[in-house]
Amino acid sequence: MIRVMPRPVPQLKLAVLASGRGSNFEALQNEIESQQLPAVIRVVISDKEKAPVLEKARQKGISARHINPGQFAERQLYEQELVRVCEEYEADLVVLAGYMRILGETFVGSFPWRIINIHPALLPSFPGLNAQRQALEYGVRYSGCTVHFVDLGVDEGPIILQAVVPVIPGDDEESLSERILKEEHRLLPQAVRLIAAGRLELNGRQVTILPEEVN
Ligand code: GAR
Repeated sequence: MIRVMPRPVPQLKLAVLASGRGSNFEALQNEIESQQLPAVIRVVISDKEKAPVLEKARQKGISARHINPGQFAERQLYEQELVRVCEEYEADLVVLAGYMRILGETFVGSFPWRIINIHPALLPSFPGLNAQRQALEYGVRYSGCTVHFVDLGVDEGPIILQAVVPVIPGDDEESLSERILKEEHRLLPQAVRLIAAGRLELNGRQVTILPEEVN
């Protein structure tokens, strides 16, 4: 049994990894600014130089780093650099918020049960890319989103939270993605809040949400 954060942390230090638009980053930052989330985003790291998330972070005065995987001869070296930067910013938790690369042993092994990911489907259905399109093509009536711990499988780690979103007749990828995204913006900060509060316990694949401490 692992208590993910043994005791509540007054201000959890986050490293956010993202490849694109950055709306999940914004959702986290908004809750931090409105004091609903006891955390601080120390650094945003992207594999894409032009990712809007980097500009959004800079506008908030948050360190924004582009680390180009193409500059490294091997994935291991790229991941070593990611680890180095996360450690430089003393990250307690790494949040993958639309980060579109698979992370291997070098990175995942450096932050055991300290990396979470948001995925736009109800895992274990529709892992990988284009999850919303996969759900539509399969013909499901409900999809949603999942926040889970990252292990070495692709979108396979223990599930922290899920939210269900209906598929509405006539939905296309855009309309379904938009409906799911609204739930993502609620779910991701909620998962970080639970970790900061020391309320998650891990037993194999099972994640238990411990009751709120009453003082
Ligand atoms: C989100 O829908 C997130 O769930 C998804 O990318 C989008 C990023 O949006 N992630 C994945 O598909 C990971 N496999 P954002 O940049 O606006 O936060």
